[in-house]
Amino acid sequence: MDRPEDYSLLDPAVQECPYAAYAAMRRDAPVYRMPETGYYVITRYQDVREALRLTDVFSNDFDTRVLSPRGQPPEVVEIYSQHGWERKRVLQTDPPDHTRYRRLVDRAFTAGRVRAMEPYIDALVHELIDEWIGDGEVEFISRFANPLPMKVIADRLGVPREDAALFKRWSDASVDSIAISTPPERQVECAWQLVEMQQYFVPLFEQRRRAPQQDILSDIVTARLEDGRMLAVPELLDLVEQLLTGGNETTTHALGAGMLLLIEHPHLVGRIRADIERLKIFVEEVLRLESPTQGTFRQVRRDVELSGVTIPAGSMVNLRYGAANRDEQMFPEPATLDLDRPNAGAHLAFISGIHHCLGAPLARQEMICAFRALLDRLEGLRLTEDRPPPHMPNFMMRGLTRLPIAFGTRK
Ligand code: HEM
Repeated sequence: MDRPEDYSLLDPAVQECPYAAYAAMRRDAPVYRMPETGYYVITRYQDVREALRLTDVFSNDFDTRVLSPRGQPPEVVEIYSQHGWERKRVLQTDPPDHTRYRRLVDRAFTAGRVRAMEPYIDALVHELIDEWIGDGEVEFISRFANPLPMKVIADRLGVPREDAALFKRWSDASVDSIAISTPPERQVECAWQLVEMQQYFVPLFEQRRRAPQQDILSDIVTARLEDGRMLAVPELLDLVEQLLTGGNETTTHALGAGMLLLIEHPHLVGRIRADIERLKIFVEEVLRLESPTQGTFRQVRRDVELSGVTIPAGSMVNLRYGAANRDEQMFPEPATLDLDRPNAGAHLAFISGIHHCLGAPLARQEMICAFRALLDRLEGLRLTEDRPPPHMPNFMMRGLTRLPIAFGTRK
C-alpha cells in the first residue's frame, strides 16, 4: 500500500494512523480528489497556508449540509424551528461578517489575559491530580484531560462547573452534528441535545443583560456591533457553542496525546522536567504531531490552482492540518518528537490567517500548566494495558477516548 488510492480517509483503520496515507498524498497527489466524496484533500504545508490566505477564494461561509453525504433528515430543521432557535454560524463566515463578530470575542483570550489566568489554572490542575494521585493509576482522559478544559471554559463563560456533564453532552452533539459520517438517527439526537443547550443558555443571556458579571457571557450579551446593534439570540448561541466545543474536545485530545507521547518517550522526560523552554517545545510538538483538528473544510468560490491542479468552483476542499504538520519540506524528520526543533511553533494545529484559533493562548497555557505539574508530581509513567487504546474513528478530529495509566509519585 503506497499510493493515495490505496487508502481511504473514511476508513477507521486509516484514521487510527493516517500518516502513511498523508505521506503518499503529499508525494503523489498533494491536491487529492477523494473518490468516495469528491472532496479535494490538501496535504502540503505551503498549499494549506496559501488556501488559508486566500479567504475570498477558499470560503468558510458554506451550508454545512453539503457535508452530510446521506443528507440531513428533515426533522432536524423542524426541531430547531419548533423547539429552539435557528442555528446561525457567525465565525464560520468570511469578511466583512467574520471581522465584525471576531472583534467581539477576540478580547476573551488575549495573551495578557491568559497569562493572568496561570495561577488559577495551576490550582485547578493540582486539584485534579490530588483526586487520584494516591491510587497509583488513573484513566487519564475522564479524570484529567476532559475535566480540565471543561472547568476552565465553564468558569470563563460564567456557568456552574457542576453542569459539566451537560456541557460534555452538548459539546459531543455539536461536533457530531457536522461530522460527515454521522448517521441520520444521531443527527436527530444531536438536534434535540443542542436545543436543550439553547434552552439552558437563553435565560442566562437575559439574566446577564440585566446584571452583568465578570464573565464572557456578560461580555457578549452587552457587546455592540459597529452599527450599535446588540447580538441576537442565534448569534449569541453560536458564539457560546463555538467556545464550548472549541474549548473542550480539542484541548482534551491534545492533553491525551501529550500524555501518550510522554509514555512513549521516557528518555525525554528529564529534559522536559528540567527546562521550561523544552516544555514549551514539547507542547508545540504534541500539537504538530497529533493535531486534534486533523482537517477542516472550505468551499472554493472560483476555479483555483494549487500544486498544478485546478480545483473547480463550488468544490469542497479539506485542508489537512495533520498532514501539513508532518510535511518534510517544512519539518525535517517530521515523525520525530524533537525538543530542539527550531520551528516547532510554525505548525498549523491552530491554523494561520483570519480564522486562527481564538483559544490558542488558552490551550497552550493549559497544556503547559498540566504537563509541568504532572511531571513534577508523577514518575515512571506507563500504560496499564499492553497496547495504547485506539483513537476515536473520526474524519475531522483525532483523539483518544480513554488512556489508563499507572505511575509512581515524586511529591
Ligand atoms: C489544543 C486545543 C485547540 C485546537 C487544536 C484548536 C484548533 C482550532 C482550529 C484548527 C481552528 C480553525 C478552524 C477553521 O477555521 O477551520 C480553531 C478555531 C477556533 N477555536 Fe480553537 N482549538 C483549540 C482550543 C480552543 C479553545 C480553548 C477555544 C476557546 C476557549 C477555542 C476556540 C476557537 C474558536 C472560537 C475558533 C473560531 C475562530 C474563527 O473562525 O475566527 N479553541 N481552533
